[in-house]
Amino acid sequence: MRDRLLIFSCRAAKELALKIAGVLRKDLAEHELIQFSNENMKVRILENVREADVFIVQTSAPPLHDGIMEMLIMIDAVKHASARRVTAVLPYYPYTRSDKKDEPRISITARLMADLIAAAGADRVLTMNLHSPQIQGFFKIPADQLDAAPIMCDYLRRKDLANTVIVAPDAGSAKRAGSYATRLDLPLAILDKRRSADDESPEVLAVIGDVEGKTALVIDDEISTGGSLQETVSALRRLGAEKVYAACVHPVLCGKAIDRINDATLEELIITDTVPTGDKRNHLRNLTVLSVSQLFAEAIRSINQGESVSSLFR
Ligand code: R5P
Repeated sequence: MRDRLLIFSCRAAKELALKIAGVLRKDLAEHELIQFSNENMKVRILENVREADVFIVQTSAPPLHDGIMEMLIMIDAVKHASARRVTAVLPYYPYTRSDKKDEPRISITARLMADLIAAAGADRVLTMNLHSPQIQGFFKIPADQLDAAPIMCDYLRRKDLANTVIVAPDAGSAKRAGSYATRLDLPLAILDKRRSADDESPEVLAVIGDVEGKTALVIDDEISTGGSLQETVSALRRLGAEKVYAACVHPVLCGKAIDRINDATLEELIITDTVPTGDKRNHLRNLTVLSVSQLFAEAIRSINQGESVSSLFR
């Protein structure tokens, strides 16, 4: 390895960070977080990071804003302790859906996050499946975006995929779903889903492609409140799909998500561990959780050794 590789974890990402460190046969580097009664936080790094190649793992999970501040303060602390390079590892990028000005006078918070991460002192970002490709361009520092598709597809190939159609739940996700269709050599159907403003209950108006009598495999980047998935599944059933599976990378699972997903009666819901699901996973029926830890560990190793990460997008 080129430089001493150290992995720190913020609280929300601890479970995944431990797995990543385990793959790399390392312990997490030591630090302490002090929270004062005025809600200020202080991070103290408990080992030498001078000239080290530091990776700080954090994800977007509640309490979201505390988690963002914790990461920024941690980046600042290692930078001022003379780390040679700091990479913010964000399996699920915060504010990923706030990525464009599609209404007048609104914030583009995914860009603000990029500015804050760089301003705190990060030299690079490593993330996974951003909601939209333009977010990568928000960064003035190098940003590598991993794709969970190889992990999902390795798992899906073990199933009987005869008579299966890949479903993009809306036009915006057609490219992502299309890449699964290509990898799995399956046809693609695209739903015309519309959402009015911030509405959590979108409506499916039409389908491009054939789902009748087929097994539908819905591909999405995230499940947040479950509204999209619920509407997608009922539209697919109305359109005559026999069975419905869903593969969604980031399990945000907030609001009424658990009830909505269970009500949807999927054959199987496949998610990853980019967001900690804690006790929620025990309440979801037919759930499979795939780990992204191996992929992140390989990416971290490659970045540390100055090797290409594009070979990881098989
Ligand atoms: C939408 O553009 C995304 O790809 C997801 O479908 C959406 O973020 C899921 O949100 P929710 O579960 O709240 O409907």
